[in-house]
Amino acid sequence: MVKAKTTFFCRNCGAQSLKWIGRCPSCGEWNTFIEEVIQREKKGSAVSAIKETKAAIPVRISEVTLSSEHRIDIRDQELNRVLGGGLVPGSVVLIGGEPGIGKSTLMLQVALHCKDLKVLYISGEESEEQIRMRAERTGMHNNDCFILTETSLEAVFQQLNTLKPGMVIIDSIQTLQTDIIDSSAGSISQIRECAAEMHRYSKITGTPVFLIGHITKDGTLAGPKILEHMVDTVLNFEGDRNYGYRILRAAKNRFGSTSELGIYEMQDNGLREVSNPSEILISQRDEEVSGIAIAATVEGLRPMLIETQALVSSAAYGTPQRSATGFDAKRLNMLLAVLEKRSGFRLGIKDVFLNIAGGIKVDDPAIDLAVVAAVLSSNEDIPVDMKTCFAGEVGLSGEIRGVTRIGQRITEAEKLGFTRILISHYNRKGLDQKKPSIKVVPVRKIAELYTLLFA
Ligand code: TYD
Ligand code: MG
Repeated sequence: MVKAKTTFFCRNCGAQSLKWIGRCPSCGEWNTFIEEVIQREKKGSAVSAIKETKAAIPVRISEVTLSSEHRIDIRDQELNRVLGGGLVPGSVVLIGGEPGIGKSTLMLQVALHCKDLKVLYISGEESEEQIRMRAERTGMHNNDCFILTETSLEAVFQQLNTLKPGMVIIDSIQTLQTDIIDSSAGSISQIRECAAEMHRYSKITGTPVFLIGHITKDGTLAGPKILEHMVDTVLNFEGDRNYGYRILRAAKNRFGSTSELGIYEMQDNGLREVSNPSEILISQRDEEVSGIAIAATVEGLRPMLIETQALVSSAAYGTPQRSATGFDAKRLNMLLAVLEKRSGFRLGIKDVFLNIAGGIKVDDPAIDLAVVAAVLSSNEDIPVDMKTCFAGEVGLSGEIRGVTRIGQRITEAEKLGFTRILISHYNRKGLDQKKPSIKVVPVRKIAELYTLLFA
């Protein structure tokens, strides 16, 4: 009997070792090595069937020819934006997300949308009928969209060779398997090898490739970190299952900013692009309720008005509870400490709950001021004027700090019919003060905010 050849791989970074090691010498993580069967029988790679690679020679950067269209418009404004203005030919995009979040739906819609491209959608998870059914649900048709249900990398390359698609989607990288390596599909060595082959294919032929990747329980992409290094762009598709909204964020992008985000809404007939997020993020209400404040935030280049809701009540049990949805709980604790220490509000004995509408997680520090306003409003039980919004960061000494892109925030607030915006005193400089329909009010300290709103 031939003894199976095995190697150990680091689950975190993909480092390889002949023996089991407790601590990865490459990334320093403990207890990440797992054993996998590998056997390199055949020399060469699956992609070599496509074209022999030439040895590269140095060229002047100014002499590198750019193809006429640098970006492919994929007819999905949200995805285009997150990619940095369209898809770059020859790039590999990895899209990760929890099961059932809508990765397959999103990519199938992209495939059906791109009418001027021949798209090959390779699925190792669903059958042709299932994909057709999904396509029917979204109600879109594209004659140039091909489906291939295949898990063998070699067979996939054969088809790519004959079909020569303009774009390839692989659902998912964990189901692909190459004969070169003996281990089972989804193992680290398989993922690494398949991704490397797809990467090579994409670079040689200039075909953009989307790889769908599963994520593990702790939210990282399954497979080694090395997968993220190999691809050009890593997108995360996230959202709260209980809300219909889904957010697409770039975690890495070689061709654009990573601060952009795309918003979708999951509907019965697939994902709908949300081009005006402010409208969905502010709840419609007829009467004023305490504990609600609107923040003028900016994500990437896009201004968004988001509702923050707070509930402050006397602690029912000995230890007061603090809970935050869509907002960093540590940051909430910090803001409450500032309110307690710097402004003398007795919040230490209260339960505080905070909720960002729509289940969207915001990173913009400018949301602080609205959070503070919502907490104070609920604490006092006095509603904040419905036509007022906020943009400012709160510092540890209770000062309101300036934020970036203030002009854009004010314009967005004005566009949505707000009549007053409270900003940091430090953002006042260089502002066009003569806005016709919105009053810009600078504030220095939390005490000043309190006087303005509730006194
Ligand atoms: P799917 O794309 O299969 O998720 P993933 O590939 O990330 O695992 O999305 C499945 C979910 O989307 C499923 O829970 C139902 C929902 N969905 C809709 O609500 N409407 C639709 O039109 C479609 C196709 C899916
Ligand atoms: Mg899927």
